[in-house]
Amino acid sequence: MKDFISLKNISRDSLVKLIELAYDIKRKPNAYGNKLKGKSVGLLFQKPSLRTKTAFYLGALQLGAAAVYYSPDEVKLGEREEISDVANTLSGYLDAAVLRTFSHKTIEEFVLCPKISVVNGLSDLLHPSQVLGDLLTLRELGKDVRKTEFSYIGDGNNVCHSLLYAFSILGGSISIASPKGYEPEEKILKDCFAIAKKSKAKITVCNSPFKAAKSADVLYTDVWISMGKEKQNKARKRAFKRFRIDDKILMSAKNNCIVMHCLPAHRGQEISDSALDGKHSVVFLQAENRLHSAKAILLAVLEGK
Ligand code: CP
Ligand code: NVA
Repeated sequence: MKDFISLKNISRDSLVKLIELAYDIKRKPNAYGNKLKGKSVGLLFQKPSLRTKTAFYLGALQLGAAAVYYSPDEVKLGEREEISDVANTLSGYLDAAVLRTFSHKTIEEFVLCPKISVVNGLSDLLHPSQVLGDLLTLRELGKDVRKTEFSYIGDGNNVCHSLLYAFSILGGSISIASPKGYEPEEKILKDCFAIAKKSKAKITVCNSPFKAAKSADVLYTDVWISMGKEKQNKARKRAFKRFRIDDKILMSAKNNCIVMHCLPAHRGQEISDSALDGKHSVVFLQAENRLHSAKAILLAVLEGK
């Protein structure tokens, strides 16, 4: 695998192998300590980050690679310099670049440079590295995706899109509830329904959080206002006010349901304190698993290069 941009074109077997690799790295970190010796990884971020930055930066170091971080103001991708010029320049120094961008098109343009591996560390459209960490969390908790009723309550955003791809590929059951006008993008749903024909995944999209949460094994949510959407603050707060994971919605789910959130969370908006801190929550395990899954991604794109 040269790049890790989207889960869309990953086969079921490759995705399962990647989850298993992340699981193995978590159990035996020392066995992987020198696997990327001599390699260099750059992190080029247009937006803030806590988890993704730490996971890829530290992950690269723990695998024996060197790491460089470029903050949003340093490079000004596409402003100070053309995206292709940045990619071609960095390919002379680095083996891989982890990008966090406003527009997904920026990543698509960067990836045209053949000499550097590119990892999507979040774009407005997709957040695949988050979802690999989430799949590792489900694996670790003994939840077989094909036997899990997964419910996502909230914005049809980048995290939601990558979850849709993952569940379509793995053949799981995913139910999305978003306010009208904030559902997942049509083109992503079209892709996922096509993938689901083969995998037998079950995808439903509705506008009722309680309908989606009924008998769920997993309740997942994300912020109402993603990075870059701040100007829609007021309209979004109005539209999403019923789309919250709290004690009331947890009553509709199964008794042993787990609560997931990619973080950062806005307590009192998309998730209540009681749901985030309560016995169902696995959010900090998810956060920890970003590290092990980031290492699996770096190995997948760089080992043997
Ligand atoms: N979940 C996630 O990607 O967190 P950061 O934005 O802090 O990287
Ligand atoms: N949907 C959120 C995810 C943050 C990790 C955003 O894009 O801001």
